Amino acid sequence: MKLLVLGATGPTGRHLVDLAVRSGDSVTALVRNPAGLGDLADRVTAVTGDATSPRDVSAAAAGHDVIVSALGRGNSVRADGLFTRASEAVIGAARDNGVSRLVWLSSFGVGHTFAWSSTAQKLIYSTLLRSLYADKAIADERIRVSGLDWTVVLPTKLTHGPAKGAFLADDRLPMKGNPSISRADVAAFMHRAAHGGEWIHRSPVITD
Ligand SMILES: NC(=O)c1ccc[n+]([C@@H]2O[C@H](COP(=O)([O-])OP(=O)(O)OC[C@H]3O[C@@H](n4cnc5c(N)ncnc54)[C@H](OP(=O)(O)O)[C@@H]3O)[C@@H](O)[C@H]2O)c1
Repeated sequence: MKLLVLGATGPTGRHLVDLAVRSGDSVTALVRNPAGLGDLADRVTAVTGDATSPRDVSAAAAGHDVIVSALGRGNSVRADGLFTRASEAVIGAARDNGVSRLVWLSSFGVGHTFAWSSTAQKLIYSTLLRSLYADKAIADERIRVSGLDWTVVLPTKLTHGPAKGAFLADDRLPMKGNPSISRADVAAFMHRAAHGGEWIHRSPVITD
């Protein structure tokens, strides 16, 4: 399968790319700075560009089966329009190039799932993460009405821990406290979702 990965230099994106190439996928990484790929560089096709640029994403998307996004703002708590702008570019690029499948990493607590959060989660989502979550909510909704075969992935707090291989994934999960899941497990879930039809037109919540 031919994957276009956005956010390939980030910690979740790196897990995803590594998993994909090890399982035989052909991976194109749209990156702002190819040096950020490090040891992955010789295993992927790196295309330099910006994920918020319709022209860059469209040029990179040609000939792919699926677009997978693990975009994020790193340590910043300000969205700076990343998710709204990138979602617009990605949807346009997918349509322009006949790529129907999109696996998009968002966050649990965004949009309608805020109401399902625990008290501890609500406090963080509505204060520290407010800007990111507002921008993600718009992007996620835009994707849901895009007409694409989308999956919007909603993990709880991310850790740098190893993949456990066992975690919960469902349209809705009960929340208590501030649960987490490793980026390695999130990447494995996204990779599996990209290869199968089970999660099309669904927004799975995933957590340990
Ligand atoms: N932290 C948590 O607890 C948590 C919980 C749930 C969900 N999430 C979400 O999970 C996602 C991934 O998080 P993460 O920590 O693994 O990754 P991250 O550190 O946020 O990585 C961000 C990635 O996006 C890329 N990127 C950002 N803006 C870009 C642009 N304009 N064009 C191209 N690439 C761009 C970065 O590239 P550069 O290398 O060029 O910067 C990097 O590869 C994020 O959306 C985050 O909000 C996080």
